[in-house]
Amino acid sequence: MSTTLQTTETPAAGTPAAGARYTLTAQALHWVTGGLMFVVLPLAWVMVSMARDNPSRGLMFTLHKSVGLTILALVAARLVWRRMNPAPALRHTARWEAAAAKASHWLLYAVMVGMPVSGYLLSAGSGRPVSYFGLFTIPGLPKNETADGIATWLHVATGQWAVYALILLHLGATAWHIVVRRDGLLGRMLPAQSQDA
Ligand code: HEM
Ligand code: HEM
Repeated sequence: MSTTLQTTETPAAGTPAAGARYTLTAQALHWVTGGLMFVVLPLAWVMVSMARDNPSRGLMFTLHKSVGLTILALVAARLVWRRMNPAPALRHTARWEAAAAKASHWLLYAVMVGMPVSGYLLSAGSGRPVSYFGLFTIPGLPKNETADGIATWLHVATGQWAVYALILLHLGATAWHIVVRRDGLLGRMLPAQSQDA
């Protein structure tokens, strides 16, 4: 008998072998925030590549910041929801795998909070307010070169690389479950299918 599995019980009918599903709210928040990560990053790459006198540069910065702040708000809601509805336990999974999944998920949450906060600090640290899609502004902060340097280091020099590494790891792990393990892990993040009922 394998000692690496947490349990060998048979899942209830309609439940992915890897364990019960996330709630529909958790699923919706996952796909919206995850999707917005694939929007905020290309916006960043485009805006930092634009010439300083390009008339669309300001718009790209505003869109990047606004999408980033939207991610922060949605992740805050996601964490509150998760506190009230803890993640369903994984089944048929080695202890190290469950621990690695847990650690990588918390690191993903850390970058989804840390990146918008450091982005706001480096942006508002210039003293200028931050526009949210042109609808309202969030006040700027008094200029402080040390704080600005730390925020830039967190956002640009280290944070973005952590984001790339964690997303690659997350997608790689999901693909591995789909292609190699075939344990229905993705189904935990999807609504029940009609034939499951
Ligand atoms: C096409 C892209 C993606 C797919 C297919 C995907 C798939 C999944 C799946 C299947 C789970 C459930 C894992 C489990 O049951 O233990 C999950 C959880 C999670 N995903 Fe994704 N994901 C994607 C994109 C993202 C992105 C871009 C982020 C953030 C940068 C993200 C952050 C998370 C987090 C934080 C969790 C843990 C949820 C919790 O336990 O509260 N995902 N993802
Ligand atoms: C999840 C959210 C966010 C992610 C993943 C993200 C990611 C990035 C990336 C990859 C860059 C390009 C760095 C480079 O190569 O130069 C960047 C630059 C920047 N971001 Fe964000 N960002 C996020 C949120 C924000 C927010 C909320 C703000 C401001 C309110 C912001 C302000 C900026 C600024 C001002 C730059 C230009 C920095 C510079 O080059 O001086 N970001 N961001």
